[in-house]
Amino acid sequence: MLSIDSITAGYTDENIINEVSLHVDEGEIVTIIGPNGCGKSTLMKSIFGLTRMRGGRIQFNGQDVTGLKPYELVKRGLSYVPQERNVFPALSVKENLEMGAIALAGGIEGRISLVLELFPGLADRMDQKAGTLSGGEQKMLAVGRAMIINPSMLLLDEPSAALSPKVMSQLFSEIRGINERGVTILMVEQNARRALAISDRGYIMEMGRNRLEGPAMNLLDNPKVCRLYLGRK
Ligand SMILES: Nc1ncnc2c1ncn2[C@@H]1O[C@H](COP(=O)(O)OP(=O)(O)O)[C@@H](O)[C@H]1O
Ligand SMILES: [Mg+2]
Repeated sequence: MLSIDSITAGYTDENIINEVSLHVDEGEIVTIIGPNGCGKSTLMKSIFGLTRMRGGRIQFNGQDVTGLKPYELVKRGLSYVPQERNVFPALSVKENLEMGAIALAGGIEGRISLVLELFPGLADRMDQKAGTLSGGEQKMLAVGRAMIINPSMLLLDEPSAALSPKVMSQLFSEIRGINERGVTILMVEQNARRALAISDRGYIMEMGRNRLEGPAMNLLDNPKVCRLYLGRK
């Protein structure tokens, strides 16, 4: 569904990611892990057309989408939840959801009810300003806003960051639920063990490059991977 072939990209003249390749098959959950600052977010932004690409190719659903703008990718069914600043704090929950659909034609009431099915907790908060929601609720709103376009694939950058263990578990099970509804997922996670546990495959990045990849179970079972990248159980 998504195929990234040797992309090199950055923000200025400096390359932050170098010749990174990965692929995500339809229906999969794939997780990217790696140390802080190794370029995971830069890779996600590059897929979504938000960096300067200096080489490589990106294909989505069999089409070359290299260099396309975010709104063009949204029209093709790709949605993205950034790591930071992913809700508009001064807008209400409802307005945030409406903003998610801004690139699309047609009514959005049906789309909003679909999001509320996924995140029932948002239903009685529709008129509340997003900035006054809890961290977990804001994250659900950010994912909900990305879901409003009815995407075939979702890019999630550290969805569980800064959440309490309980809310984190809830969010991971919601991510699984979204995947079970047919949405393919590529995510970046610091909570690598938890993320790999719900993933089909994983990639490890280091210093802007591919380091290792494999079925999530194999990565979780690999003592070297555990020691270097997953921390204590
Ligand atoms: N908007 C930006 N402009 C310039 N450099 C950036 C920007 N965002 C990130 N970087 C740099 O890119 C490198 C990789 O960052 P990032 O992709 O955010 O890593 P990760 O998500 O793996 O922690 C870091 O050295 C960071 O300072
Ligand atoms: Mg990051």
